[in-house]
This record gives sequence, structure tokens and C-alpha cells, in this order.
Amino acid sequence: MSFIPESETTAPNLFDLTGKVALISGASGFLGSAMSRALAEAGANVVVSSRSAETAQKVANQLPAKEGQNHFGVELNHLEESSIHSGFQDAVDKAGQVDILINNGHAPLGEDWKSVTFDQFKDHQINLAGYFELSRLTYQHAVERKVPASIVLLGSMYGVVG
Ligand SMILES: NC(=O)c1ccc[n+]([C@@H]2O[C@H](COP(=O)([O-])OP(=O)(O)OC[C@H]3O[C@@H](n4cnc5c(N)ncnc54)[C@H](OP(=O)(O)O)[C@@H]3O)[C@@H](O)[C@H]2O)c1
Repeated sequence: MSFIPESETTAPNLFDLTGKVALISGASGFLGSAMSRALAEAGANVVVSSRSAETAQKVANQLPAKEGQNHFGVELNHLEESSIHSGFQDAVDKAGQVDILINNGHAPLGEDWKSVTFDQFKDHQINLAGYFELSRLTYQHAVERKVPASIVLLGSMYGVVG
């Protein structure tokens, strides 16, 4: 006799993303490429973005795909509002929907408060505005579809160390 309720989900089901579409920015990078692969392995159709359309397509082509699973590449730059909007629309046009957003794209910046330039600091903040705008587009898209969505924002422990 089992004490597990029939409604209880299984561990593999908890991580199964079959039928979901995940949009991940900065997918050509160190963490982005690993996370894109993990999303594809979990069954999601993955839309990878890069500031270069060619790079995005190359990364998408390298992702593992089972039968019926499709991955796409879109061009998207967090520092440009028009690019965020066209990149998100391109993702929806190509994949049909976006259920999961991973805000990950970011230019590495190793400066501290004593050496960072005004323009470096400004770009850092604009990139954050890019995360916000993409999150808002994902929210609006989910509300229109009347379905839930998941939004993940990459941060850093250095945000609290300072
Ligand atoms: N690695 C770590 O140990 C670590 C630690 C703490 C936090 N993080 C955070 O994790 C995220 C990824 O880090 P990572 O180490 O994987 O960095 P990474 O290897 O430099 O990759 C970041 C990717 O972001 C993309 N990117 C750069 N500027 C962009 C922009 N303006 N708009 C859209 N995409 C842009 C680049 O792709 P394209 O050139 O193809 O556009 C790049 O491949 C970042 O947000 C970073 O702050 C990383």
C-alpha cells in the first residue's frame, strides 16, 4: 500500500519542460550556454539570444533536440529598447510563445567603485533596464495568453559584498 497521494507529482515531472518555450539572453556566454543546454535537456524549446543573429543561430543549432523539439536564435541587445522589443517579438514569431524568461546577458565588468567609469556604470544600469523591459514583455505576453510564466534574473553575490 502506498502513502503517496495519486495527485503527487514525480521528481522527473517537476523538472520536465516539454511543451514550454524558454527565452534566454546572453546564451553564447559561460553560464548562458550551460543553462540553454540544461533547458533543452529538460525538454523545452529554447530561444537563445545574442547581440549577433549569426551567433544566436549557431548556439541554437548546437543544442540537443529530441523529436518535435525546436530551438531558435534571435538578435537582442539589452542596451537598446527597440532591439529588446524586436528580439522578443522575433522569439514569439519563431517559437509561438514564451513561457520562461532567463535574463542573463551582461557585459562583464570587473571594476570597483573607485575605478569604474561613468559610461561603464551607465551601461550597467541600462542593462538592468533591459532586464526590466524583457520581464515586462514576458508578463504582458503571459497575461494576454492567460497562462503562468516564469522569470529568472541573474544577479551576483558581489551585489551584496560591496
Ligand atoms: N560567471 C560567474 O561567475 C558569474 C558570477 C556572478 C554573476 N554572473 C552573472 O551571470 C550572467 C552571465 O555571466 P557569464 O559569466 O556567463 O558572462 P559571459 O560569459 O560574459 O556571457 C554573457 C553574455 O551576455 C551577452 N551580452 C553582453 N552584453 C549584452 C547586452 N548588452 N545585451 C544582451 N546580451 C549581452 C554576451 O553575448 P553576445 O556577445 O553573444 O551578445 C555574452 O556571451 C551575467 O549577468 C553575470 O553578471 C556570473
